[in-house]
Amino acid sequence: MAGFKSIRYEIDRGVAHISLNRPDVLNAYNMQMRDDFSQALEAVQEDSEVGALLISGQGRAFCAGADLTEFGTAPSQVIARQVRWERDVWGQLHGLNKPVVAALHGYCIGSGLEIALLCDLRVAAKSTRFAMPEVQLAMIPAAGGTQTLPRHAGVSPSLDLLLTGRRFDAEEALRLRLITRVVPDDELLDTAWGICHQLASLAPELVAAAKTALRGALDLNLVEGLALESRLATLSGDPFH
Ligand code: COA
Repeated sequence: MAGFKSIRYEIDRGVAHISLNRPDVLNAYNMQMRDDFSQALEAVQEDSEVGALLISGQGRAFCAGADLTEFGTAPSQVIARQVRWERDVWGQLHGLNKPVVAALHGYCIGSGLEIALLCDLRVAAKSTRFAMPEVQLAMIPAAGGTQTLPRHAGVSPSLDLLLTGRRFDAEEALRLRLITRVVPDDELLDTAWGICHQLASLAPELVAAAKTALRGALDLNLVEGLALESRLATLSGDPFH
């Protein structure tokens, strides 16, 4: 799909690849990127040939957070809020029924980390640096971070990261369960592509069922969760149901 200004979009053997592409500003997330990202996610959801999605960043960072030069440039708070509701890009990413892998390197800051936390698997290069500096910048995270961070790391570690805004490395991110794997820098993309191609070879309905069941575990009580699992297992052809 051509015509994106702030991302690259390609498909390779059943894997869609969205690469954040504003390397001069470390892939800072701006309004253009929000629109491009949203459109690409729509394409991923609708394309039956796509079985997995890889998200990475061009240049020397995955993403250095929201574009600080755009802060305060919306014509009004009302319009800013309306646009946010109309383009629920975080809901789109979280709601994808295909597996999503984030390949992280360089800097993964603010909304960069929030995007990653909305993905299913996060592989990070060993030298990646992380931070959640929003509170230091007089705001709170708005790309799902207040909800996803504690779901992965627990409330106390999340408050530590959020209130201090301190930097942390990939080993700590792994320890806090914010990422799923750390690899040597030069193995990042090969590893991430390998995982994606493997995921794309699975039956799509099975992957979708597994995602729905595990996500449900966070939001449902045990009785409801077991009922959901049972329903999904029946649908995906489990002979014991
Ligand atoms: N918004 C807009 N521009 C950004 C940016 C952001 N979030 N992050 C980096 N950039 C720009 C820099 O202004 C610089 O532009 P310039 O070359 O025109 O001066 C370019 O990207 C490279 O950044 P630089 O700061 O020179 O790189 P560095 O390696 O010295 O530092 C960081 C990297 C990530 C530590 C630093 O850029 C930084 O702290 N960025 C802001 C992170 C942030 O607070 N994000 C907001 C989260 S809500």
